[in-house]
Amino acid sequence: KAPQAHEVTELGGTPEQEAYMRDIIDQFTVDTNYLNQIRDHFMAEMDKGLEKEGATLAMIPSFVEGRLTGKEEGHFLALDLGGTNLRVVLVTLEGQGKYKTVSSKSRVSEELKTGPMRNLCDYIAECVDTFLTEQGLEDQEVELNLGYTFSFPVLQSRINRGVLTTWTKGFACTGAVGKDPVLLLQDALLRKHVPVKVSALVNDTVGTLLSNAYNKPSTLAGLILGTGANGAYIEKFDKITKWKGSKASADEMIINMEFGAFDNERKILPLTRFDNKLDRESINPHAQLYEKMVSGMYLGEITRNVLTDMIDRELLLKRDENTSLAWSKEISRHWSFETAFMSNIEADNSTDYAHTKEILDTNLNLHDVTTTEARFIKKICELVGKRAARLAATSIAAIVKHCGIDADGCDIGIDGSLYEFYPSFEARMYEALTEMMPELTNIRKTIRLGLARDGSGVGAALTACVAARMEKIIA
Ligand code: GLC
Repeated sequence: KAPQAHEVTELGGTPEQEAYMRDIIDQFTVDTNYLNQIRDHFMAEMDKGLEKEGATLAMIPSFVEGRLTGKEEGHFLALDLGGTNLRVVLVTLEGQGKYKTVSSKSRVSEELKTGPMRNLCDYIAECVDTFLTEQGLEDQEVELNLGYTFSFPVLQSRINRGVLTTWTKGFACTGAVGKDPVLLLQDALLRKHVPVKVSALVNDTVGTLLSNAYNKPSTLAGLILGTGANGAYIEKFDKITKWKGSKASADEMIINMEFGAFDNERKILPLTRFDNKLDRESINPHAQLYEKMVSGMYLGEITRNVLTDMIDRELLLKRDENTSLAWSKEISRHWSFETAFMSNIEADNSTDYAHTKEILDTNLNLHDVTTTEARFIKKICELVGKRAARLAATSIAAIVKHCGIDADGCDIGIDGSLYEFYPSFEARMYEALTEMMPELTNIRKTIRLGLARDGSGVGAALTACVAARMEKIIA
């Protein structure tokens, strides 16, 4: 779809800048027809993943059987690893669909993310220990059950067993791929005499689905749109044709799709040279291509790639020689342009872009950005952000069409900073969904997207509760 003329002229640039922007708008625009094609490909890939192991969409059975009633009670611990922070959460289920949480948060350093797995596990065990002491729970007679939200692709074999297939989102600890993250963590807890039993292993999307379903029974799927991007949904057991285990007690199972890897073979996604540059320079080239166009870890870097390209072509931030070096240093640094800056820039509705200028000034040392330049930068953020939201919507459209929904519609629980904080992200998703499903007259009533705040924490605790229940049944 050719960009609308006014989209370019209202930026108020030179003819060269206009020509450049026309091309960029064209490259980052995904029209309705294209959205539909992506959704259809998504559905075909879902089927392949349900049929056999090793498909691009891993479609991993979660081993969470049965649904919760909302009547469950008790204290459960949850541990959330895989976003920007490590979090320990104590969840008290109070029955009647209600719960309370207390949590602590700590950052995982780059060193821990890429060093030996043993160090990471020791660090986690230490954080759990400190948290229990703070909460006065260190001398428990009975071990506390812990749900471990480990948000990476894990091929599960039981509710608390599995094998890490590959790292994503910038993690690369040695000695972990091919191993069971539960055993590694349980070892570290034992070494430190922390009275906790890792009783469930959960992906954050599965946790999000469960926590949403705790008070919205029509929940069909859980999504994470944060540092990474992924989804889980409830599948009919009969459709999981690759399933070799014994028939589960329930006729449904939650599937962790691992859809960040969608189209790793580059058949359909509208990749630009800026996406290719990001992929090539990433810690996991050729992997997680969809995630790299959709999630918070990467959007800022795509934007930076466009900005530096414009700078190189002398179409942006062109200054005389004396001042040029002052700005080029920060913006030239890999990952220096955070997705949070995009959020804030997109939220700036002032005519003089004062807030945008301030963000660029304080974070990137760009001291003398003009109003026209700020307008260009905002436009680029908008293009990258909008494409992400529209692409994210194709996954929801695929899940909904695959499962089919009745007149009551469905709920989709979503957690993650992008969904929660990025302005218009949800509105843009709804817009794309409307385009893909014109037959639904009131999209917001039929496909009810909603924030499942702390979905991964509460969901992990709920899974620990399911696990405890399953153990009782089995024992
Ligand atoms: C990455 C992980 C996936 C997780 C998602 C969101 O895609 O591979 O397991 O659910 O990030 O955190």
